[in-house]
Amino acid sequence: MSSKVRKAVFPAAGLGTRFLPATKSVPKEMLPVVDKPLIQYGIEEAIESGVEDIIIVTGRGKSSIEDHFDKSFELEHLLESKKKSDMLAMVRKISDMSDVSYIRQKEALGLGHAVLRAKDLVGDEPFAVLLSDDVIASQTPCVRQLVDVYEQYNATVLALMEVPRDQISAYGVVDAEPVKDARFGDRLFKIRNTVEKPKAEDAPSNLAIIGRYVLTPDIFRCIESIEPGSGGEIQLTDGLKHMLKTRPIYGLKFEGTRYDAGDKFGFLKATVELALGRKDLGPAFREYLKSLSL
Ligand code: UTP
Repeated sequence: MSSKVRKAVFPAAGLGTRFLPATKSVPKEMLPVVDKPLIQYGIEEAIESGVEDIIIVTGRGKSSIEDHFDKSFELEHLLESKKKSDMLAMVRKISDMSDVSYIRQKEALGLGHAVLRAKDLVGDEPFAVLLSDDVIASQTPCVRQLVDVYEQYNATVLALMEVPRDQISAYGVVDAEPVKDARFGDRLFKIRNTVEKPKAEDAPSNLAIIGRYVLTPDIFRCIESIEPGSGGEIQLTDGLKHMLKTRPIYGLKFEGTRYDAGDKFGFLKATVELALGRKDLGPAFREYLKSLSL
């Protein structure tokens, strides 16, 4: 098995019901935070983490994702003729970003099912999975942090985050024991079990699984052998639970800030905070926010 994480899968075939009505015709992954679609944040993170091939799992109504990463001859020609070289460079950077392949999930049967659709394109090697609703701002890209653990332990690694008890039932949650490894401070865990969306009183911990994973390819066999779970969907968490029967899985409390941009309030927070952090927009936006009599 290749030990380098060269491929990243982006499940993007969900219906995005939390963001209706916008997502009735616009894919959630294409909603822009400041000026970039959500999925582009994830793809940039994957590339900065050393990933070379991008695989996007799409569904009906998602063709604007393919257009976004395709070459736009008309737009490039227009920008060239108007001598807008900065914009031209930005547009070219998107289509030159990396090799992008697409596979369809005809029905939104769950995250595990979406990942399984990428089986043939991934092959027999470890790969990253990124959910583009989770926008993560960090010094070291979150996927890179997980790859660093993978390279030491040669096993599946999940991104973990502490979540308040009253919100835990929205997440996949782990039962885990700390691993003493100075390289990762007190942030590394060995997973004992995973539970999808438990009631607060049943949650085994306050450590939730966030939308970043490095998976070993045996996850495909694990997903194939499970039945639909929570919400009648084929859940990735159930596939992971199955994997635990034969191999260890690790979790890393990643360093950085995560925004749940698939949710309206999380999306607003991401927009405000990322705009404030921008050199071109931040100062004026800060002044504007201060001027609001809240
Ligand atoms: P979510 O749980 O956020 O579901 O999926 P969703 O349908 O996108 O959005 P809501 O909850 O209805 O608002 C997490 C990720 O898994 C993908 C989604 O596109 C998203 O990136 N997914 C989910 C699929 O690709 N296929 C599925 O069947 C389910």
